[in-house]
Amino acid sequence: PALGCCYRTVPLRTPPAFPAARPRRLRRDEFTRRLVREASLSVDDLIYPVFVLDGQKVAQDVPSMPGVRRLSLDLLLPVAEQCLELGVPVMALFPAIDPALKTDDGREACNPDGLVPRVVRALKERFPELGVLTDVALDPYTTHGQDGLVDATGYILNDETVEVLVKQALVQAEAGVDIVAPSDMMDGRIGAIRQALEAGGHIHTRIMAYSAKYASAFYGPFRDAVGSRSNLGRSNKKVYQMDPGNSDEALREVAMDIAEGADMVMVKPGLPYLDIVRRVKDEFRVPTFAYQVSGEYAMLKAAAANGWLDHDAVMMESLLAFKRAGADGVLTYFALEAARLLRRG
Ligand code: PBG
Repeated sequence: PALGCCYRTVPLRTPPAFPAARPRRLRRDEFTRRLVREASLSVDDLIYPVFVLDGQKVAQDVPSMPGVRRLSLDLLLPVAEQCLELGVPVMALFPAIDPALKTDDGREACNPDGLVPRVVRALKERFPELGVLTDVALDPYTTHGQDGLVDATGYILNDETVEVLVKQALVQAEAGVDIVAPSDMMDGRIGAIRQALEAGGHIHTRIMAYSAKYASAFYGPFRDAVGSRSNLGRSNKKVYQMDPGNSDEALREVAMDIAEGADMVMVKPGLPYLDIVRRVKDEFRVPTFAYQVSGEYAMLKAAAANGWLDHDAVMMESLLAFKRAGADGVLTYFALEAARLLRRG
């Protein structure tokens, strides 16, 4: 039979049969592979999370995150410069707070002269073109390592915590941060923060909401990096972060955050939750981000260090997967390494 004889009679969604279709034709050469590739990764998609601590010339390795170090501001400035040189649009700041400053109520989070506001001011002064994002949550500042205030029974209080988060976000906005990213999962915090920002004249401060943030075991190495793992001890964050079995609930969370004033939403962790990224993007069509979290980074680094995986190949494949799933960008500890590879082509 002639090739394609029944072509016009089949529904459009049914692919033509072999050998009219040989999908491998387009895979044969790099030029056609490039030509028909649906998703692509660029430096514009990358947000680089960094850990900062007080002091001068301090650089501390984070053993569970090979290649990641906690840096004092003087050593962070050259990193910011690298982001600019490589074209990485935004750096996300996470503080490792001096344990002596941690309290039950995490009040250091609202100190206008605290570590984060100081670093934000310095970065925006030196590199105004580099976007700076700060986390809004209390866990780096509390003795118990929870993201919010805790009552006598150990329950994380919602509305009382939101009041503190609003203050924290305002302090960050006043220091000049470009994007605040509430990662605490309290109900109603996006609306409260948005109102306070507007009332305070911070109409340009963007909110990237950690909207679908799951109670995940993949955050372990991050908790080492900010020094909250030992504070948290054997407790967990299941009374506010989402249950890993849920998917419809993620859509409700995202809908609420958009209605409350989020400019961008996020799904976290990343690779194990790509189905959520896809559902969120399809449903809402808003700027959607994914966080390739510390545990995902640690897994790939560990396997690569053992020679079990090809480091650069899995790094680029995992980042491309976020784009394919519908993400507009990725927070990733690989940002600088990936940007260097992208530049080399
Ligand atoms: C804190 C926060 C966490 C991460 C980002 N912000 C940890 C947590 O919720 O315990 C995790 C990031 C990572 O694992 O890379 N609210």
